[in-house]
Amino acid sequence: MLEIEKVREKFPSLNNCDNDGNNIIYLDGPGGTQVPSDVIEGISKYYKNHNANTHGEFRASIETDNIMDDLRKKSALFLGAKDSKCISIGQNMTTLNFSLVRSLSKIFKKGDEMIITELDHEANRGPWRTLEDIGVKIIEIDLLQNGELDYDDFSKKINDKTVMVAVGMSSNAFGTMNKIKKIREILENHNCLLLLDAVHYAPHFSIDVNKLNCDFLVCSAYKFYGPHISILYAKPGLLDKLDTDRLIVQDQNAPYKIETGTLNHAACYGVSKAIDFIASLGSGDNYRKKVIDAYNKLSTHEYALASKLYNGLNELKEIQIIGPDFSSRDRTPTISFVHKSKSANQVCKELAKKNISAWDGHFYAKRAIQKLGLEKRGGVTRLGISIYNTSTEVEKTIEILSSI
Ligand SMILES: Cc1ncc(COP(=O)(O)O)c(C=O)c1O
Repeated sequence: MLEIEKVREKFPSLNNCDNDGNNIIYLDGPGGTQVPSDVIEGISKYYKNHNANTHGEFRASIETDNIMDDLRKKSALFLGAKDSKCISIGQNMTTLNFSLVRSLSKIFKKGDEMIITELDHEANRGPWRTLEDIGVKIIEIDLLQNGELDYDDFSKKINDKTVMVAVGMSSNAFGTMNKIKKIREILENHNCLLLLDAVHYAPHFSIDVNKLNCDFLVCSAYKFYGPHISILYAKPGLLDKLDTDRLIVQDQNAPYKIETGTLNHAACYGVSKAIDFIASLGSGDNYRKKVIDAYNKLSTHEYALASKLYNGLNELKEIQIIGPDFSSRDRTPTISFVHKSKSANQVCKELAKKNISAWDGHFYAKRAIQKLGLEKRGGVTRLGISIYNTSTEVEKTIEILSSI
């Protein structure tokens, strides 16, 4: 069990209050979480002590090289990857995905087929759509009205022309957990690449890229208590085969060949600190085991709070929850709903008046919101549970929503 009050002490922003001294309730985690002191101090320490570009002979530059190597090693352990050569760093997931698409566009050809889904964030749809320019057919897997992907439709749409599948591990709009094992089964006799978008999944569950047997996986540290940096995992040897956009003067090998220009070293140091923060919540005799144990504890805490929130909201006549229920733990602690008489934006404004941070709209999962007929209503109001949320906060949120 996690001692949540102790965990909360690590997050300075949780002390922020309004003019009446009421603390802010942060339920906006799916848009980006709050950040613990070690991460904030790490970034500041980098600028104070280690600030330099890489590959120099002087102390700060050597330290920066070490910081970057360390981030790759920790990220590899975080994702269960073979080694740090599989880990590339990028500005954000969207940019990494665009870079990947550009390089894959040199391999794919007219008549090839690429599968995306109606449930995914636009960052895992739009970049792939650009492949249409070279004659690749983009095929979308249907989203069902219950917020789940249609796996029968998946089976029907895969064929010998499919060269790639890009799918989210979970939905940032509804909290749906996609069945990656099932998708792997469907793909079994097909020789195509699989990219997993773990941006909404990584804050809540541990990842094992070997078990997932994916070719690429992307996630963003600002969703798991870190700064705005993203990580690309590529299967050993795969990135080396791609003709990425790069300068002739930069390192031509994986993992560097997809990284352009000077990276944000201070933020990268912050990402290492964020992974350390997660690992520090778990126990085990090595770093990977600590990460896995931490996620077991973290997801237990989040699931308990999110089910409480779900059950409370379910009792409110004015509110209709969209997406999967909490009968199983196979969902993220992200709850979206519509209000019978108020738009999603009006609900968020009311919540903000009471110091609750929540998001409304489509969160760039626009196709999913359209498909479920929610666009005209202004999308949904989304409440996301993160590690620092408490039972009292959930109770207060239910109470406030019951009076809107
Ligand atoms: C599921 C999902 N995928 C992709 C993205 C895009 O990530 P980034 O902001 O790092 O480009 C987001 C951001 O909200 C997301 O939730």
